[in-house]
Amino acid sequence: MAGWAAMVQAIQAAPGSASPAHEDYWKLVKRQFPLDDSVLYLNAANVCPASRGVLDRHLEYLRDFQSNPSFQNRLKYEPLAERARAKAGSLLGVEADEIAFVRNTSEGACTIVKGIDLKAGDEVILTTHNHPSNLDSWKIRARRDGIVVKAVPTPIPPKSKQELIDSIAQAVTPKTRVISVTHVTSTTGVEYPAKEIVEIARKANAWMHLDGAQTLGALDVNLREIGCDSYAGSAHKWPMGPLEAGVLYVKRDRIPQVWPSIVTAGWSDSLVGARKLEVFGQRDNPRLVALEAAFDFLMLIGMPNVEARMRALAQRAIQGLAEMGGVKVKTSLDPKLAAGVVKFELNKMAVKPAYDLLYSRHKMAIASTPTGDASGLRISPHIYNTMEEVDRAIAAVKEIAG
Ligand SMILES: Cc1ncc(COP(=O)(O)O)c(C=O)c1O
Repeated sequence: MAGWAAMVQAIQAAPGSASPAHEDYWKLVKRQFPLDDSVLYLNAANVCPASRGVLDRHLEYLRDFQSNPSFQNRLKYEPLAERARAKAGSLLGVEADEIAFVRNTSEGACTIVKGIDLKAGDEVILTTHNHPSNLDSWKIRARRDGIVVKAVPTPIPPKSKQELIDSIAQAVTPKTRVISVTHVTSTTGVEYPAKEIVEIARKANAWMHLDGAQTLGALDVNLREIGCDSYAGSAHKWPMGPLEAGVLYVKRDRIPQVWPSIVTAGWSDSLVGARKLEVFGQRDNPRLVALEAAFDFLMLIGMPNVEARMRALAQRAIQGLAEMGGVKVKTSLDPKLAAGVVKFELNKMAVKPAYDLLYSRHKMAIASTPTGDASGLRISPHIYNTMEEVDRAIAAVKEIAG
């Protein structure tokens, strides 16, 4: 545990506090990541690096597992997974029994899509900017079972919170059974007012699923306060954890209404809570230890501090882009309508050449959407980025925007 202990010590001894403005503190946080210094990594919405402490813990348990894969040695993983479950619950403000460990957001969403009873004619409200795992998956279910899928357009950018609420409310009919939206969209970074949309779902007696891919580990999410029925997120994005690990939350009284999509050895009626949704055969036990370490890392810094810093970085990027000539910012300039995902287009250069140039000239690692209403370049900074890096990214964009 030397690596982990050293990291905890370093962060606890960091200069200043974790307030968003204490650059020295965040520079020290950055040093905990094995990122290549020559890369300007601004793609948290896709994949985040894991900190050295998380990597060390992962490797330690991988070695342990591989050095002795006996049933006897593996017995220790069950209590470790339960400890991780308790931490996931506490991070999200819910009970451990309401958490299933899935492989990613996609699998979490599809567990709901496939698992709840719906009949022909039942309606599901989505948005056009839902991720395919929460949009195309419903369309496939519609083909199979004759349910009706209604995807309401996501405004770019939204004018107000009320516009987002109304767009969902207006689609509700007496046949609405599910409302499934994205907490923060990966396309243009719209932050949907989750609590208000849950209210709409409650009144319609509909299931409310929230895609948390862009909020788990990014925002200080309290699912009990939000009130949704289910929520899914991935460890490899904002939680800065291992690849192919994720969390599916299902509200306690809703759990009996979800059919498990996979049933194999280890499944039984006596499994408690959401555990019945995570029996996939042999699991990668050391990965769950790494997931716990990722939660520990977030809690070490404090989720409110993580959110505040992440938002400050994103706001710096949005403002820098908005003040620049030759750039159209697609993300809302109102901080209440956006979080960590920043999308923009250049007036004089197409998306692909700009994306290529930013990487070849500046090693600026971002994401791009070539076509459609969300077309553009996407920057998504996280706590391992410094303000100086955001400024460097803005300068690099300016250089090619003119
Ligand atoms: C909003 C949203 N939902 C779901 C996903 C799918 O995540 P994963 O590939 O980890 O399942 C993504 C990935 O970027 C996303 O942005």
